Amino acid sequence: MTHSRNIPVRAPTPEAIAEAGALLRAGELVAIPTETVYGLAGDATDDRAVARIFAAKDRPSLNPLIVHVAEIAAARAIVRFDARAEALAARFWPGPLTLVLPRLEDCAVSLLAGAGLDSLALRMPDHPVARAVIAASGRPLAAPSANPSGRVSPTTAAHVAEALAGRIAMVLDGGPCRIGLESTVLDLTGPRAVLLRPGGLPKEAIEAVLGPLGEAGTDDSAPRGPGQLSSHYATALPLRLDATEASSDEALLAFGPDIPGGAAETRNLSPRGDLEEAAANLFASMRELDRPDFRAIAVMAIPETGLGRAINDRLRRAAAPREDPAKDSPPLAGSAALG
Ligand code: TXA
Ligand code: MG
Repeated sequence: MTHSRNIPVRAPTPEAIAEAGALLRAGELVAIPTETVYGLAGDATDDRAVARIFAAKDRPSLNPLIVHVAEIAAARAIVRFDARAEALAARFWPGPLTLVLPRLEDCAVSLLAGAGLDSLALRMPDHPVARAVIAASGRPLAAPSANPSGRVSPTTAAHVAEALAGRIAMVLDGGPCRIGLESTVLDLTGPRAVLLRPGGLPKEAIEAVLGPLGEAGTDDSAPRGPGQLSSHYATALPLRLDATEASSDEALLAFGPDIPGGAAETRNLSPRGDLEEAAANLFASMRELDRPDFRAIAVMAIPETGLGRAINDRLRRAAAPREDPAKDSPPLAGSAALG
């Protein structure tokens, strides 16, 4: 075992894999090799573990993450796996293809992992270490590329250890990534499959199975259900940000120990003012308060530090005036590209 600053970089022995599984079940983060790039993995069913992923990456936005499974049966337990998904999975899983599908109502995956959306991105990686760790953890694993936001995706364990020193529990060294490029992301939530991100699996290979794909953002032939019109989650009720009080016909999304009374209903994201806890509770709380019984949701100010920046980015997007639902919103000023 070698230590790069203070992250243990471990050879993928059966012992190290069992330990990684135990760390993940305990809510810790482990960087794992996949055939595309190294992933920063956490238990996808644990809101706090997922919040830790965003904190470790220092992402300026709570973007939806890819959930990794070791078996197709696990995918069928999480999302509505339609005939197209079955055909693609039979042909290309395990491999560098991520499928975005509607989440099942009773799906155990954290709302934060999907950034509050009604869909989830899933893939089965083609790397024996990745699959062994998923199996050892017994959980689906949320894993974005294991780089801090704004830096390139890591393809060796040394890159990961250098970039994320002190932020994660373990790096498993599976050697250099075979593909070295992220997975192809395909949206199957509409009637027409849409390529969202080109990646390790060529578009032509997918088209050989499904026929011609739509292009992200330009395809009008794919009307979506409500909640999937946009790449970010928005409440039906208007949000009133930076609230210092709330009226009796408003719901209050609170933060911290000192909160105003008077709201019709209140959810406190973190009574002790902890941003990781607030991120973990954000989407579930927004959904709980988003009921026609209230006129609006008053939202207290969240500090613009650490994960608070990512929480505020989501709140501002959710509060922004609604626009033409056929189009995705442009990035807000000051928000960076996906990490
Ligand atoms: O190769 C890969 O895919 C790597 C390895 C570690 O598996 N993972 C990776 O994850 O690149 P990440 O989080 O860096 O990229 C996730 C991509 C983003 O482009 C995101 O917008 C898209 O997937 N995505 C995730 N969930 C989505 C959803 N529900 N709807 C639309 N796009 C989604
Ligand atoms: Mg990435």
